[in-house]
Amino acid sequence: MEFQKVIESRRSMRKYNPEKKVSEEMIRELIDAAIQAPSWKNSQTARYYCVLSEKMLETVKRECLPEFNQRNCKDASAIIVTAYKMNKAGFEADHETPTNELGNGWGIYDLGLHNENLILKAADLGLATLIMGIRNVDKLRELLNIPEEQQIVSVISVGYPADEPKRPVRKSIDDIAVFC
Ligand SMILES: Cc1cc2nc3c(=O)[nH]c(=O)nc-3n(C[C@H](O)[C@H](O)[C@H](O)COP(=O)(O)O)c2cc1C
Repeated sequence: MEFQKVIESRRSMRKYNPEKKVSEEMIRELIDAAIQAPSWKNSQTARYYCVLSEKMLETVKRECLPEFNQRNCKDASAIIVTAYKMNKAGFEADHETPTNELGNGWGIYDLGLHNENLILKAADLGLATLIMGIRNVDKLRELLNIPEEQQIVSVISVGYPADEPKRPVRKSIDDIAVFC
């Protein structure tokens, strides 16, 4: 798909086609797109936990998401939990001293860059995604055995779309940018 079209057509999807399942191969393509993103000193601290098996999918949705998000991703056939290794991006080589005031904010920044690549690649493949920031991190850590040195950030559902959501209103260029 043409790049501009991918950017404009991607929507947060809250209704998925229950008949069509996303393959592990496709999820690998999404992760590979994420890997191409830039990161602080090429530190590449993003980490992904990809849930595809039916039993685990059901458990993660039920145990780790509030009811409204369970509904939003009900028929999504994959869940990707996104995390990053703390104290690396934005830190000196000792992994203790933040290089500037943002500290681990840079790890989250890098993960966001990775995740944008991931969701745009999904759109390019005809898949749909929903980023969810409202989730239970303790349950996710326990269920997926995510190490303490990784901060869990978002949960992204992936599947085939079953809806055509309208584009929410966007700010204008002059609302958000200053030209000097
Ligand atoms: C960091 C982040 C957290 C979000 N959390 C949720 C969520 O928990 N549940 C949900 O339904 N949508 C969630 N969204 C989706 C936003 O509501 C959506 O991106 C926004 O309304 C713009 O719509 P669009 O993605 O279709 O352009 C989240 C989006 C982002 C980027």
